[in-house]
Amino acid sequence: MKKRIAPSLLAADFANLQRDSEMLNTSEADWFHIDIMDGVFVPNISFGMPVLKAIARHAKKPLDVHLMIVDPDRYIEEFAALNAAILTVHYEACTHLHRSLQKIKSCGMKAGVALNPHTPVHLLKDIIQDIDLVCLMSVNPGFGGQSFIEQTFEKVKELKALINQKGAATLIEIDGGVTDANAKALTEAGADVLVAGSFVFKSDDPKATIAKLKFI
Ligand code: DX5
Ligand code: ZN
Repeated sequence: MKKRIAPSLLAADFANLQRDSEMLNTSEADWFHIDIMDGVFVPNISFGMPVLKAIARHAKKPLDVHLMIVDPDRYIEEFAALNAAILTVHYEACTHLHRSLQKIKSCGMKAGVALNPHTPVHLLKDIIQDIDLVCLMSVNPGFGGQSFIEQTFEKVKELKALINQKGAATLIEIDGGVTDANAKALTEAGADVLVAGSFVFKSDDPKATIAKLKFI
């Protein structure tokens, strides 16, 4: 399967979200990656529902919403109403992960689980078949523009093996520090979706950068 590119709007110009959303609409991007941070689960606050609503008004591609918040169950219905296609919760933030995933799916969204860099892949052994997407954090969540953690390559391979072993259809997404220096190797290791924030939006030609990541 061809890899998907999900540019992270966290690195967009917040004063020009319509412009940046339209740029993504006409680019090779597959999804819009939306980072919601609560200042509790991660040491940063990004934006919440009103801003997502504004983005959703202009986005013509699926919204891939990454919740870096505690107790995400409280907001699942609201994100469904805001048109999220994929809703990803953190393994570390969910006491009853199975229940959270079922709720996400019952609201009509694909269910994702994100793992912090220190969280081992094998913890998903008994639930992988219920997960549509695993987001492997390749930086510590909370900020854009950080350096890629090389250990992620091992995790991608391990996760791919687990998915194959269980006959699951789960997609592997990589989030943090993705550039043209690691995109190809990540895909070869088994990644299906690459999130890229700074590398896309801080480049001189974001559209060309997206195409480069997609076809590298
Ligand atoms: C980090 C976020 C990422 C971030 C990626 O907490 O989950 O999605 O926006 O940004 P870059 O690509 O700049 O590392
Ligand atoms: Zn993210």
